[in-house]
Amino acid sequence: MSAANDNPPLSPVTVITGGSQGIGRALAYEFASGGYDLLLVSRNRESLEKTAADIRARHDVEVKILACDLVDPENCARVEQFLHEQNCYCQNLVNNAGFGLAGDFARHRPEALLNMIDLNIRALTDLSRRFLPDMQARRQGGILFVASMGGLLPGPYQATYYASKAYVISLGKALSWECFGSGVRISTLAPGPVRTGFHRTMGARSELYVQSGAGISARKAAHMGYTGFLCGKSLIIPGILSQFGALALKILPHDLLMPFMSWFLKSRLKNPRS
Ligand SMILES: NC(=O)c1ccc[n+]([C@@H]2O[C@H](COP(=O)([O-])OP(=O)(O)OC[C@H]3O[C@@H](n4cnc5c(N)ncnc54)[C@H](OP(=O)(O)O)[C@@H]3O)[C@@H](O)[C@H]2O)c1
Repeated sequence: MSAANDNPPLSPVTVITGGSQGIGRALAYEFASGGYDLLLVSRNRESLEKTAADIRARHDVEVKILACDLVDPENCARVEQFLHEQNCYCQNLVNNAGFGLAGDFARHRPEALLNMIDLNIRALTDLSRRFLPDMQARRQGGILFVASMGGLLPGPYQATYYASKAYVISLGKALSWECFGSGVRISTLAPGPVRTGFHRTMGARSELYVQSGAGISARKAAHMGYTGFLCGKSLIIPGILSQFGALALKILPHDLLMPFMSWFLKSRLKNPRS
């Protein structure tokens, strides 16, 4: 028998970026309930360990963790290398990690804007390109992109964040078309506001959309995302209100919506943080 045949078979794993908190964490529970072994990737090792231990206690799946900052361009290769070392392959990829920045574009630190582009755009493109060819060769698995309804139109005062999510929707829809009939599923989850720590992290506190308390739970967003992904849905918009919103965005010209978006997203603070 050749040495190659002595290698143990590779185990399938669902890789979830930003799997320690919020929507990513809720998606981790969804995939675990479907029996998928997981690799959770985010920066904070402690919260990864806590999430992984809780998932193991509730579901009969293996949960691996990798603490790394995906803003660093070298760390996508590290994810791939880690899977290789663990004798695993990426069966499903959930491109969820992302952050936003609230406030005037001109007042943001340039590094902060570029870090956001590195996480919200570069890292998910890099990971998708690393893992998609193998999924296509196996004719199974898939990619779930986590975009945002914000990607459906320009967002004054969250300009770069909205633009980054427009990229994710465009990439997800295009790959879904390219992979049609290949056995590989490509879905894009585009939620409206979801109640997580995301808005506080991005510096949004006094904005009308935060103050209104609008939004669905991370659990609901994740459940819709997971079931939509399993059904092979290309674009998943969770929540009836958001679905109406998305329909309105198809009909109404964006120029007409800009004053409303601006009113909705502008900080009410006298001296908003940049
Ligand atoms: N919340 C909403 O209203 C909403 C609506 C639409 C779309 N989304 C999208 O949903 C996704 C998840 O958002 P969320 O609300 O769940 O946010 P969240 O609660 O802030 O969670 C973000 C997750 O990403 C990880 N992360 C952040 N920066 C990272 C980095 N540089 N490298 C690796 N991991 C990183 C975080 O863990 P560490 O801090 O430990 O790294 C955390 O696990 C994002 O892409 C967001 O744009 C959110």
